[in-house]
Amino acid sequence: MAPNSLNNQLQGILNKINKLGISKNESKSLLLKLFILKKYGLISEKSKENEFVSLEQLIREWDSSIFNFYQKIERFFISEVLIPWEIIELILNLDTILSNHDFFSSLQADTKQKEIGQYFTSEKTINEVNNKIFSTKLTSNKIHSVIDFSAGLGDFIIPLLRKTELTIYGLELDKLSFEYCICSLIFNPKLSKQRKYSLLLTIKNGDAISGFDEIVFSDLCKNNEARKLMQDYLTLRLNLINKTNIPLEEDIIRVFSIRKQIGDIDKRFKEFNWFIDYPERFLDYDLNFIEENYFDFTVGNPPWIIYGPSIKKKYRSVLSSPPFSKYLYGKYNFVLPFLILALQLTKKKGALVLPQGIVAESYGKKVREKLIEERLLTKIELCESKLFEKVVNDYCIIYWDKESKNDTFQIQDNKIQKTIHVAFASIMNSHYKIPLLPKYHSSFIEKIASRSILLKEIIFVRRGLTLAKKYQQFYSEADPENNKIEHKKLIKHNAFKSQKKEGVMNFQVFYDGDKFVYDRELLGAPGDFSLFEREKIIRRNRGRKWYIGLDLSKEIYVNDIFDIIYSIDEKVSLKALFGYLSSSLTQYLAEYFIQRDITSNVVRELPYPDFSSNNLLVMEQLVDQWLNSAKGEEEFQRLRSEIDKIVYKIFDFNKEESDFVNSNSRYNWKHEQEH
Ligand SMILES: C[S@@+](CC[C@H](N)C(=O)[O-])C[C@H]1O[C@@H](n2cnc3c(N)ncnc32)[C@H](O)[C@@H]1O
Repeated sequence: MAPNSLNNQLQGILNKINKLGISKNESKSLLLKLFILKKYGLISEKSKENEFVSLEQLIREWDSSIFNFYQKIERFFISEVLIPWEIIELILNLDTILSNHDFFSSLQADTKQKEIGQYFTSEKTINEVNNKIFSTKLTSNKIHSVIDFSAGLGDFIIPLLRKTELTIYGLELDKLSFEYCICSLIFNPKLSKQRKYSLLLTIKNGDAISGFDEIVFSDLCKNNEARKLMQDYLTLRLNLINKTNIPLEEDIIRVFSIRKQIGDIDKRFKEFNWFIDYPERFLDYDLNFIEENYFDFTVGNPPWIIYGPSIKKKYRSVLSSPPFSKYLYGKYNFVLPFLILALQLTKKKGALVLPQGIVAESYGKKVREKLIEERLLTKIELCESKLFEKVVNDYCIIYWDKESKNDTFQIQDNKIQKTIHVAFASIMNSHYKIPLLPKYHSSFIEKIASRSILLKEIIFVRRGLTLAKKYQQFYSEADPENNKIEHKKLIKHNAFKSQKKEGVMNFQVFYDGDKFVYDRELLGAPGDFSLFEREKIIRRNRGRKWYIGLDLSKEIYVNDIFDIIYSIDEKVSLKALFGYLSSSLTQYLAEYFIQRDITSNVVRELPYPDFSSNNLLVMEQLVDQWLNSAKGEEEFQRLRSEIDKIVYKIFDFNKEESDFVNSNSRYNWKHEQEH
């Protein structure tokens, strides 16, 4: 993120631009274009003679012909706005080392970034992906194609510009990001005119998922006028992209002009559509579908978005058709349709950066089945660090190769620095669960599982319900100073725990009775108060950190990032469950058994020990002491360690095995203490 002073500087410039009488987005668009011009050293001091300059003037000054194209790709039409030189000067004085990401993230609101899943991949990950996908030299007598269909600022595709034998396709939904990407390309003085012309044909603004709509395309074909235009357009594009004709300025202008005419016939044809906008990859001259073209390579990092009601509504129709419908399963992360699309579109090799849930959670089952049954998968890289500052999910990189057909694939776990080779045949089971662990962990976990029952057999787990805005409002009015963190005030971590940054953490949850008044009307989501007004365990996680609280007074209401856990038919003592779920063994399982973000489903699948009545009693007593006794740090640690001992006893662990648990959990509370 840009340092605060820079952020303020940029916001200051933006405010000044805003006063020119243009909209907020137009102001951002203007600023980003000026920033790119400045980055390439294309703003000449010559223009200073004028009190005001326009973007058009600035662009024409270094390349008048570029302006003919520039207007075709502009999403916010601000090239004629007169800008006081004073603003240009502020931009010229901006720090030159400001990275694209820092600059862009200062422009784009956090809420917008979250909504469209816009987090930028590190240069290291991008290089790694590109190097692996293009590890073999491309034959120079053939044109190859690559697509990044969630291109952001173009970080995956820009380094590939060096490969002249590659036609580079890029698609981006967000207009501002698209403008940043395309302007970075066509303003770049190092790129040849031919390269720029070619990129103008292939870098587009649009929606990768809703654009994969064959119905819109078949309707276009039924319209004679549109069909005729489409054929001319396709012929032109085919010649230009296959380099039968060297692209000339007038060819490009013609392509844009026909595309516009097609869009003018029916407003549905205006929107991005894969078959209309990249027809050379899908169609023959008679507009029949052919599969041979597609894209040789696919790279990228699709948006990780929660598949909420608004997305559901927007994409319902396209996702209920092939190729998506066959592979969507259960409640999925929105990256799943992107992976399905990528697998469909790639002719040779591809790689996507994805949340780890895709390799282990049930929503990825059907797509894993495809990757495994068809032996497409070549490698899963489980990545060590968090990908982005604001995203907590662990991520992985999935590589596939449609031509390799090996019997095995690799799992590279960067966290434990191990690579294992897995035979496809070994995982052709009904769930296509990929064993992400080295053998010594998996056999240890198998052993635990063989001596356990599943939590889901004895407990009910569900996500907490979102509290209505009205309640949140009420809360912030009651405590205006803290109105930014109002929903977090529903819980409070035990003082000992909150000092620790990581580890198995327990918290005593309490209800701030002064400020919270229960009112049934205030519950937001469907469901009823009986879910809350009962003895329960409340659980949440941040990445792999696992927090747990016990509410015996039946009064805690939580928001939607929490699990509510209670016993089915009193089958299990909540205190004992609470003890077990806060033990070091659970933390070990959370890290190794789960191997990904901890969801409610994952909790259900955890093994649970069958307490004998004696052990159960001791566990309950320990939990009681722990919750009620004075909690000096030492006492606290001692009780925790006693809880661990009971758990190890139930599982019949010898010293070696309990040491194994302690030494293998990164966030183990004892482990932390030792450091
Ligand atoms: C995780 S970011 C990755 C950006 C860039 N490729 C990178 O790796 O740094 C995902 C990008 O996908 C874009 N996006 C979101 N939904 C999209 C859609 N339906 N079609 C195309 N792009 C989309 C977002 O605007 C965002 O720029």
